[in-house]
Amino acid sequence: MSATIIDGKEVSSKLLCKLKPDVKRLDPKLVVVQVGEDAASTSYIKQKIKSCEVVAMRNEHRHLNKDTSIEELMKCIEELNNNDDVSGFIVQLPLPEHLSASVPQIIRAINPAKDVDGFCAYNLGKMFLSTEFEHLPPATPSGVISLLEYYKIDIKGKNVTVIGHSNTVGKPLSTMLLNRNATVTTCHEFTDDLPSHTKSADILCTAVGKPGLITADMVKEGAVVIDIGITRTEDGLKGDTDFDSIKEKASFITPVPGGVGPMTVASLIQNCVMAKKRQVE
Ligand code: GUN
Repeated sequence: MSATIIDGKEVSSKLLCKLKPDVKRLDPKLVVVQVGEDAASTSYIKQKIKSCEVVAMRNEHRHLNKDTSIEELMKCIEELNNNDDVSGFIVQLPLPEHLSASVPQIIRAINPAKDVDGFCAYNLGKMFLSTEFEHLPPATPSGVISLLEYYKIDIKGKNVTVIGHSNTVGKPLSTMLLNRNATVTTCHEFTDDLPSHTKSADILCTAVGKPGLITADMVKEGAVVIDIGITRTEDGLKGDTDFDSIKEKASFITPVPGGVGPMTVASLIQNCVMAKKRQVE
């Protein structure tokens, strides 16, 4: 069997197209805060700004000096929280070394109504309740769900294995799948016998950032494989999966790049529209 290649570029472009009338009607504005010069962040932010332009959404890139202090960053967040013209904003991660221990404090400072990354406890807590309360879900898990829905891949009753238990991807993705009645196993660096969990998965999602982690022998015949890992190597961007061999065994597979990545950006734009909608209605 040769898998259907899930086309994240096509699905994200359709999602963005659907958002255009709401953007026109609601006129939201997204602000992206960047501290320092992390090259990967600069590239991700460019994609975010480009997608804003595709839907004609107002946007601003606030690029702060790499030596910005926690006090200055908190002041910037407070200003964005209080600025009625700003519908949503994100602080791009990772932050420079001297700020990295303050990430929880920084996320806590963001007004949940403007937290379009869906990273704060209020939005994560609401998402925990049921699909009905997924108002500002984290962008990457939300993008994965949209991909599964677009390709009409059943979630209910399926065995889903998620590898990675970060607060931004693995844990919320596991919760969103559970909300849709999947039987979810969440694996991580301390999981004993990872292959036993991957081989039983009807849907396998991996978000680790280790190229070559998942080989074809670890995948069930006909499984759906969602690769959320993204690592910059000398040979370009690589996911966690051995794409060429797994595509001969899986029923669906996401490429890296061009799979989940564009969906994360589209989900962020969708969240910004949702944030504005809830602010005005
Ligand atoms: N760095 C990599 N992905 C993301 C994301 O989705 N949001 C933020 N804030 N930082 C990131």
